[in-house]
Formats: sequence, structure tokens, C-alpha cells
Amino acid sequence: QVFEATCSAPVNIAVVKYWGKRDTSLILPTNSSLSVTLSQDQLHSKTTIRASESFTEDQLWLNGKQESISSNKRLVACLRETRALRANIESKDESLPKLAHLKIHICSENNFPTAAGLASSASGYACLVFTLATLFDLRLNASELSIIARQGSGSACRSLFGGFVAWEMGQNDDGSDSKAVQIAPETHWPELEAMICVVSDAKKGTSSTEGMQLTVKTSPLLQHRIKEVVPRRMEDMIQAIKDRNFPRFADLTMQDSNQFHAVCLDTYPPIFYMNDISRAIIRIITEYNKSGVKAAYTYDAGPNAVIYAPRENMPEIYALLSHYFPGAAFADSLGMLKEQKKDW
Ligand code: DP6
Repeated sequence: QVFEATCSAPVNIAVVKYWGKRDTSLILPTNSSLSVTLSQDQLHSKTTIRASESFTEDQLWLNGKQESISSNKRLVACLRETRALRANIESKDESLPKLAHLKIHICSENNFPTAAGLASSASGYACLVFTLATLFDLRLNASELSIIARQGSGSACRSLFGGFVAWEMGQNDDGSDSKAVQIAPETHWPELEAMICVVSDAKKGTSSTEGMQLTVKTSPLLQHRIKEVVPRRMEDMIQAIKDRNFPRFADLTMQDSNQFHAVCLDTYPPIFYMNDISRAIIRIITEYNKSGVKAAYTYDAGPNAVIYAPRENMPEIYALLSHYFPGAAFADSLGMLKEQKKDW
């Protein structure tokens, strides 16, 4: 008998960035962060997991290529946690099929380029954990699942929810309070849209994981950011979202992206994620906003721009950006996690 589950999970793009860990194995951050989950129409990860007595070892295929599981500590942690929860449920209910001890085959795909700074690890690990929880019938809520997904990749914990999502950094050493919570569902602000401007889909130079630890070690500006700036900015951002105040949301988003890249520059040796085209887009959006704030840019650990704007402004922004960068832009709107099927 083969047990099988397939799920998909969305990408999220932070407007208050996560950058820095206080615990690198449990993936506990040095500051809280906040993101917007994108719709799955254009960007998502999709994972199928099968469990069977006939499998002799755990195996993983990522975008069609076989990869090692044992050398991936983060994947091993997600498997260990979900299997332990399943074993616990099985020990309490004899009638349940025994799945916790079975070997599994994981098949995972992104429909967008991996490691191009497009948050593939976020949707990938959210999807892995959601699919394991579905296969094992764990019945945890999204915040509880986010604690497991966080151990795969920090930003993944935010992809368990749709809409506007905070990752509360928490205080506990065991990470039990470092979890994602939904600030507002996607229906709260349906006019808000995101557009991703793909400047380059080449694999980035410095991974987020390596980059942020070098920042923690060397950047005095990061200490200022995590102590003085982010706590207040989280509150202001949550208020701006609750009020659907776009100019406020946009100012905070752009300021936070700017400070994140300033912190990268303050890292020693410095880390550059934006390129000349990224900076040109910042200039264009700044110019466009002179008559009133109508768009916000943000950049993660790569050169690609994500533009947030009310839907009515998008055609104009698209026209503006594709005029300067022909063929570089595509749009997406907001959405949430979708469970596709579960067979058993
Ligand atoms: C710039 O979640 O990829 O996108 O926890 O080491 O896997 P790890 O890092 P990751 O870092 C994301 C950094 C960011 C900002 C953000 O998404 O908040």
C-alpha cells in the first residue's frame, strides 16, 4: 500500500525583513518580520510525498533532480519533527495506519527559478511541512506548523498563511514561541497587488543563510536595526495594514528594504544584492511617487524588484517599467495556501 499527499504553497515577500539569527540550528531570528503572501497563480511550490513499506530509504527529487536528504540538516529536522508527532498520534490510536516508521519519497517542484532571490526556500519548506502534515494527518494549526517549517528556512514559516503575516521572533531558547501569525487575510485589502520585476534569474552570489550570519558577526548597523528600528516598524506596519493606508505601508516597505541593503553594505566584507538595474528601478519609482505615493519597491537577497501598489496603478507601473526594461516584468496578486489532494 502506498500513502500519498500532494500540496502546494505560495511565495511570500517581506515588507519588514528577516535578516540575522540568534540560533542557527533552530533558526531563531534576531528580529520579528512581516510579509505579504502572493497568490499561487504564477509562483508556487508543489510537493508530492509517498510513504510505503516497499521503500528502502528516504529519497528526494527537487525540480526533477535527485538530491541527498541526509546531508540536509534542515530537511532532516522537518522529517524528524513530523514523524515524532505522527508516532505520538499512532501510539494513542491503534486503529491508525502505521506511517511514522515508513520510508518516504518526496518530489518537489517550483514553477520559478530556484535561488534567484525569489523566495523558493520559503514556499518549498512551507510546502514540505504542509504536505507531511497532510500525509500524517497531524491536525496542527498553521502557527503550529510554522514552528516546524521555520526549521527548514526561516522565511518559510510565513508561507503557511495567506494575506499579511508576521513572524514573531519569540523569546524562548527552544523556539516554541517563534512562530507565524496572520495579521489580516488576503480579503482584507483586495486592491493591493504585487508585481515582480525579474531583473535576473541567475543564482545569487551570497546565500541568505551565509550572508545574514556574516552580518550578525560584523555589522554594528544591524544592532541598531534590531533594537531601535524593527520593533517600532513592526507596530507601524501592522497599523498601516489594518488601516489599509497605502502611502504609509509603502513608505515603511521602502525604508525597510533600504535599511536591509544598508545593513548588507555595512557587513564586512560587504554584500551586494542589488545591481544597477535594481537601483534604476528605485529611481523610477521614487520619481513616480513625487506627486503622491503610488507604488512601493522592495528587494530581497537578489536584484529582482517586487513592487506593491493598488491595482488601479499597476497598468501604469507596468508600462513605465517595461518601457525601460522590456520584457522584464510580470504581475501577480495576493493569495493563500491550497491543499490539492490527499489519497488514503
Ligand atoms: C532577505 O529564510 O532564506 O528574504 O532562514 O537561512 O533559510 P534561512 O534564510 P531565508 O532568508 C530570507 C531573507 C530575506 C528577508 C525575508 O524574507 O524576510
